[in-house]
Amino acid sequence: MTTKMKAATQGRYGLEHIGVQDVPVPEPASGMVRVAVNVASINPADWHLASGTPMFLRLTEGLRQPNEFVIGRDVAGTVDAVGAGVTNLQPGDRVFGSMTGGFAPYALAKADRVARIPDTVDDDTAAGLPIAGVTALQALEKGGVGGKTVVINGASGGVGHFAVQMAKTLGATSVTGVCSGRNAELVASLGADRVVDYTKADFTDHAHDVIIDCAGSRSTSELKSGLTDSGGRLIMVGPAKGGKVMGPLPELLAMAARFAVSPHKLTVFTAEETAERLERLAAMAADGSLITHIDRDFKLADISDAFQYLGTHRAKGKVLIRP
Ligand SMILES: NC(=O)c1ccc[n+]([C@@H]2O[C@H](COP(=O)([O-])OP(=O)(O)OC[C@H]3O[C@@H](n4cnc5c(N)ncnc54)[C@H](OP(=O)(O)O)[C@@H]3O)[C@@H](O)[C@H]2O)c1
Repeated sequence: MTTKMKAATQGRYGLEHIGVQDVPVPEPASGMVRVAVNVASINPADWHLASGTPMFLRLTEGLRQPNEFVIGRDVAGTVDAVGAGVTNLQPGDRVFGSMTGGFAPYALAKADRVARIPDTVDDDTAAGLPIAGVTALQALEKGGVGGKTVVINGASGGVGHFAVQMAKTLGATSVTGVCSGRNAELVASLGADRVVDYTKADFTDHAHDVIIDCAGSRSTSELKSGLTDSGGRLIMVGPAKGGKVMGPLPELLAMAARFAVSPHKLTVFTAEETAERLERLAAMAADGSLITHIDRDFKLADISDAFQYLGTHRAKGKVLIRP
C-alpha cells in the first residue's frame, strides 16, 4: 500500500488557493472507514467552504484557514480499511456518502454515516446523490408534498433535478419545474408536469401549495404571491445571495418576520446526510425512480476548473470529479 496520494488541497481560504499535491494516505480512526474513491461530486457547499464565504461559516469551518486540508465531500467508492470498532462494513463494500477529503484517491468516513451502493447502481449515480439528493428529500418531506401542488425553482440544478424526480414518488399531485429554456427538456424528462422557462414566464402567476426554492432568485413578496393563501409553504433551500460576511442571514431573518404575520409558512433547513436517508435514495436509484443527471466530469488535476464551473450557477444536474 502506498503511503502518499495526490489530493485536492487548500491551506487558505480563496479559490486561488486550491491546489493538487502529495499528502499522506489517511488512516481510519475508531468508528471510521477509509474509502478508495471511485468518483466524487462537487456541491455549492464545497464552493462556499473553499472561498470562505460567507465569512460567518469560518466560525465552524476554521477561523484562519479551513479545518480540512484535503477538500471534497460527496463520494462513491469501495471500503479499503476499517478502524477499530467498525462492525457494519468491511473492505470491499461499495459505499457512498458525505466524507472527509473526498477529492482524493482515498477519503475517510464515519462508518455509520454512509450507505451501501446497490449492485445495480453505478458509482456515478451514487456519487451525485449525498448532499443534493438528501437536501431534495428533506425539502420535499418538510413541504409535506403528499396531495399538494409543488413548484421547484432551480429544477435543473443538483438539488432541483432530484427534487423533481422524487416529488411524485412522495405523492405530489402536480410538479412544476422552473429553469431556463435550455434545460426545459431535461426537467420535463425527469417527470415535471409543467416546465416554466423563467426567462419567458413567471411561476408566481399561479398559486401553489408548496414552493421549493433552490435558486433564491425571487423576492419574498413574489414568492408569497405564488403560494396558496390556505397554508401555502415555502421551503427555502438556496437562499438569495447575500453579503460577504453574513451571507443570506439578514435576508432570511427579514423573510421569517414577513412570514410570521401571514397565512403562509416558511421552512429553512440545513441538510443532514444520515445513513437512513442515503439508504432511501439508494433504494430509489435501484428501483429506477431516481437517476443522477451528469452534466460533466473533471479530472482531479483540473479541480480548480470544476470550482470555476460550479461558480457559474449553470450546472445541469451533477458535476463529477474523478480521482
Ligand atoms: N439548505 C441546505 O442544506 C442546502 C443543501 C444543498 C444546497 N443548498 C443550496 O441550494 C442551492 C442549489 O444547490 P444546487 O446543488 O442545486 O446548485 P447548482 O447545481 O449549482 O444549481 C445550478 C442550477 O441553478 C439554476 N438556476 C440559476 N439561476 C436560476 C434562476 N434565476 N431561476 C431558476 N434556476 C436557476 C440553473 O439553471 P439554469 O441554467 O436553467 O438557469 C442551474 O441548473 C445552492 O444555493 C446551495 O448552496 C442548500
